[in-house]
Amino acid sequence: MRVMVVGSGGREHCIAWKVAQNPEVEEIFCVPGNGGMGLIGTCIPLSSFEEMLDFIEERNVDLILVGPEAPLAAGIVDYLCAKKRAVIGPDRRGALLESSKVFAKEFMKRYGIPTAPFSVFDNPGEALEALKKRREFPVVIKADGLAAGKGVYIAQDFEEASFAVQELMVEKKFGPSGERIVVENFLEGEEATVMVLFDGQSYLFLPSSQDHKKIGEGDIGPNTGGMGAYSPAPVVDDVVLKRIEKEILVPLFEGIERENLYYRGILYLGLMIGKDRTPLVLEFNVRLGDPEAQVVLPRVQNDWLEVNLAIWEGKLHKIRLQVSEKPMLGVVLASQGYPGHFERGKRIEGLENFANASGDQVLLFHAGTVRKDNSWYTDGGRVLNVCAFGKDLEEAYHKAYEAISYIRFEGMYYRRDIGFRVLQRKGPS
Ligand code: AMP
Ligand code: GLY
Repeated sequence: MRVMVVGSGGREHCIAWKVAQNPEVEEIFCVPGNGGMGLIGTCIPLSSFEEMLDFIEERNVDLILVGPEAPLAAGIVDYLCAKKRAVIGPDRRGALLESSKVFAKEFMKRYGIPTAPFSVFDNPGEALEALKKRREFPVVIKADGLAAGKGVYIAQDFEEASFAVQELMVEKKFGPSGERIVVENFLEGEEATVMVLFDGQSYLFLPSSQDHKKIGEGDIGPNTGGMGAYSPAPVVDDVVLKRIEKEILVPLFEGIERENLYYRGILYLGLMIGKDRTPLVLEFNVRLGDPEAQVVLPRVQNDWLEVNLAIWEGKLHKIRLQVSEKPMLGVVLASQGYPGHFERGKRIEGLENFANASGDQVLLFHAGTVRKDNSWYTDGGRVLNVCAFGKDLEEAYHKAYEAISYIRFEGMYYRRDIGFRVLQRKGPS
């Protein structure tokens, strides 16, 4: 078996690591991959779908796993399926659930999926007019299109709201993504991530998790791609999970079927669990979360190649997911300045000591790294993910942070409070 993993982040390193555990996997091609993925497979920069197809045909690649949203939104599944290649993910129309917030919100409305009430604007004057009349603040303003997790503004008053409209619609900070915006009510509660495997007929829940989107400790400052995560998220207990299934998944699958969306892949539900424990959808993603995958996949005991082949063949009903009882917590080590401007090329030290000292309960996934002459250097905003199992979350927390103490690079930044919601609830250890 030859597998291609598309992407270059911590999530993709984790996917490649997981797939590599199957002894039948002879080769993994990472497109373009990163330093860590280069230890598992062959990294190759292929820039167009045509180039990818040529490579896939030449090397007899059997299965293609796509990490990030951009190639899905650009139609990689449409292209490769038309060429009879096994690829996991939705087609371009299915990917609209993530790539267009307007599409996703209107879809939710059509099928009665609980989400924040909203309006859509394609004209800044009309948006400002409506915001001026608004009584309820904060208000949430979102770019319609993909903006790497940064196109969402939480405005405390009209002034902040008009700043968001100005940046998105007038200055076009995120290009065409801001041509339309969604204005929605601010939801109170606790966020959680629930990812679901779906083969077009059957589905399986992956273990729940919680991301930490803000750059600063205590959840302050600008949004990032995610600064750390843990799994499971206690806020998603059995009662909440049943409600997610009944109130969100059932109508979501009905909508996918009725609108004839091609979907064999992962559905990511970004949820707000309200005080009354009502789950509401903040967003859909059409792929694994990053950094959620890095704490969810290691807990899944099943062979990841088999699971993905079952998705492709429509045989997910034959799979029973086995999930480790042990929770896992992962911390992102980032470059100074991220999510704003940051520098690359800082030498990373301590990875050998880390590997020797940490044992098999601590995993290291690379995101923005590159290897040159046997040394490691930073090559992105999010650089590394240090993930640890524990008998409970507290132990996982201590193991992860102890392991981090071995690693150093200039300007290394990380949040020290990953898991704080659960650990605070339990009180200090
Ligand atoms: P999204 O990309 O839509 O998930 O938004 C990014 C982040 O903004 C979410 O993870 C939340 O932290 C926050 N957010 C988005 N929509 C809302 C909302 N309606 N109420 C409160 N926070 C929100
Ligand atoms: N961690 C959030 C995301 O992957 O979109």
